[in-house]
Amino acid sequence: MDDQKPGGNAIELIDVSKTYRVDDRTVNALLEINMEISTGEFVTATGPSGAGKTTLLNIVGGLDKPTEGEVRVLGLTISELEEDVLAAFRCRRIGYVFQSYNLVSTLTAAENIEFAMELAGSHGENITEKAMVLLETVGLKERANHLPGQLSGGEQQRVAFARALANDPPILLIDEPTANLDDSTAIEIVRILCLLKGKAKTVLVTTHDRRIVRLADRCLRMSNGKIET
Ligand SMILES: Nc1ncnc2c1ncn2[C@@H]1O[C@H](COP(=O)(O)OP(=O)(O)OP(=O)(O)O)[C@@H](O)[C@H]1O
Ligand SMILES: [Mg+2]
Repeated sequence: MDDQKPGGNAIELIDVSKTYRVDDRTVNALLEINMEISTGEFVTATGPSGAGKTTLLNIVGGLDKPTEGEVRVLGLTISELEEDVLAAFRCRRIGYVFQSYNLVSTLTAAENIEFAMELAGSHGENITEKAMVLLETVGLKERANHLPGQLSGGEQQRVAFARALANDPPILLIDEPTANLDDSTAIEIVRILCLLKGKAKTVLVTTHDRRIVRLADRCLRMSNGKIET
């Protein structure tokens, strides 16, 4: 599971479609998507609600399987992996920041980050220290022992970023990181994204935030399950 050499594709989608069936209705969430993202590239995806942005991230991140087509991440065809192999790949190689943070409500900020490291097989005192460094990076060292319910939305989002970075993954998938935040809180998130850009990670962010789009090497526009540019 080595990371690919610089210049290769970190992410490749070949004729990927995702269809949902609800009762007798069919929803084409993604339609024959072909997409390549190079190692170290910072790409944004914009598009109206329902365009398929979250579905795209879920499929790239292996949280969901395509109905048709092939998904290659770091040279591995993840659309064909067994669930347990895929889960191990995901927690070591992919950092995911969800649209709704998804922190474990019964764990403190620090424990949420430590938990991600434990899932990837790290244990011991080291992870406590690492979690504190990550919390410091996102400006929340003083909130380490707060539960998610004792944090503001922006603070929870920053913990979610720290958790996504816990295993130093080469790929980050980030879903509308500033959509639920006020302007001044959103600036904190933009600052964290700037830091990531300096670290040569492959980043795919769904967003409408111009400040984030401006950071991007490339901007994809989605509508009705397709990538238009
Ligand atoms: N689990 C599901 N079952 C059925 N339909 C779904 C499911 N998840 C998503 N869809 C449908 O797939 C389409 C794409 O949804 P998706 O969540 O990817 O959109 P989005 O671009 O992320 O929208 P938003 O900007 O509102 O977050 C929508 O029409 C949605 O209703
Ligand atoms: Mg979405």
